[in-house]
Amino acid sequence: MEKLVIQGGIKLFGEVEVSGAKNSALPILCASLLTSDRVRIRNLPHLQDVTTMLTLLGHIGVDVELDEKMGVILSGANLDRLQAPYDLVRTMRASVLVLGPLVARFGKAQVSLPGGCAIGQRPVDQHIKGLEAMGASVQIDQGYLSVSAKRLVGAEIVFDLVTVTGTENLMLAATLADGETVLRNAAMEPEVIDLANCLISMGAKISGAGSETIKIEGVPFLTGFDHSVMFDRIEAGTYMTAVAATGGELLLKGLDVNSISALVSKLTNSGAEVKSEGEDLLLRAQHRLNPIDIKTAPYPGFPTDMQAQLMALNTVADGTSTVSETIFENRFMHVQELKRLGAQIEIEGNIAVIQGVPGLTGAEVMATDLRASAGLVIGGLIASGETSVGRIYHLDRGYERIEEKFGRLGAKIRRVSN
Ligand code: UD1
Repeated sequence: MEKLVIQGGIKLFGEVEVSGAKNSALPILCASLLTSDRVRIRNLPHLQDVTTMLTLLGHIGVDVELDEKMGVILSGANLDRLQAPYDLVRTMRASVLVLGPLVARFGKAQVSLPGGCAIGQRPVDQHIKGLEAMGASVQIDQGYLSVSAKRLVGAEIVFDLVTVTGTENLMLAATLADGETVLRNAAMEPEVIDLANCLISMGAKISGAGSETIKIEGVPFLTGFDHSVMFDRIEAGTYMTAVAATGGELLLKGLDVNSISALVSKLTNSGAEVKSEGEDLLLRAQHRLNPIDIKTAPYPGFPTDMQAQLMALNTVADGTSTVSETIFENRFMHVQELKRLGAQIEIEGNIAVIQGVPGLTGAEVMATDLRASAGLVIGGLIASGETSVGRIYHLDRGYERIEEKFGRLGAKIRRVSN
């Protein structure tokens, strides 16, 4: 198994090239299931989750051709296995995103139930409720969700809570349904907008993506597309937080700064200087930062996917801060590991109280989930001495060449095999 070994305590300077967004790439890859035409997807990040999704599409019968760097050409003309098996769904819950498009186009699909997940229960009841409202019948058979419908019919669906992939799955499904679907209390994440734009380029009739209410007028068929995936705002935010925490200067290019405004305002409150011009962003941090209180919430609130990284920053801030996690019930697994670096954190229910200390010291720590791992890497970059972060297969699911990108900023970080 591989680990990252970090010699911390170094200020970081330079530019990072931000990759395409994992959370946008996954649903857009599934959009290829809606058409028999060839589709081209550009700016795909090289990540384990993308490979898993391509494997799943290949299993279903999609013809996958690697394009130029960071691109694929897919053809869903001859799909013969309308099923997502347990082995793939187990490693990546977003596999459930094949359900909506397959049922919409072929009238049936089977997806293994996701099972437990390290960061909470993460059920798919909202996906099922929506498909049922569109006339599908849903059965659970030998651990699989079996969904069938002659043709989905438009419906008004009110989500009980805001779900990103739930919104995306039903939006994908509704594009080929008979009549109008209205999704209320929909997720407003930029990745939902990116998917909607891709679907619109296929001929889908969608309005309101990015707001709480999305309307989709079903069409009889969709055509191919050529779409470039939006930038990864969580990756960008992770590098921003790391440089804010270690001190230094970071340049990022090609961002829509509006989509990271919740993070920018927190980092600015902490004392980092953030300037943006067009699609460029410059972050500078010189002094010990102020503690910042965070409460995670659906977009445009503070993203849960940035919670662990900000907590790492708070461990060395000048005072006490609180981090409230409201989206996932078990997303504080990085806390015990950050404490191994000398952080002072107490958990009270879904709130972590962090007493900033002047510095952290290196230790061996273990990654537990994707974003927790990013928090530990930031902890290691802050800490004096050597930190090794184990189980980095979690990181490889969502961060492209993280050691290379940090290395270019001057960090001493290397990947080693045990
Ligand atoms: C997506 C992101 C993930 C991010 C999360 C929250 C992708 C591929 N992943 O995950 O990186 O952390 O949004 O921003 O885009 N829930 C239910 N029933 C459902 C669906 C969700 O109760 O049917 C609950 C979940 O358990 C969780 C909350 O709703 O507590 C939000 O989950 P959701 O937005 O669905 O997360 P994902 O789409 O899986």
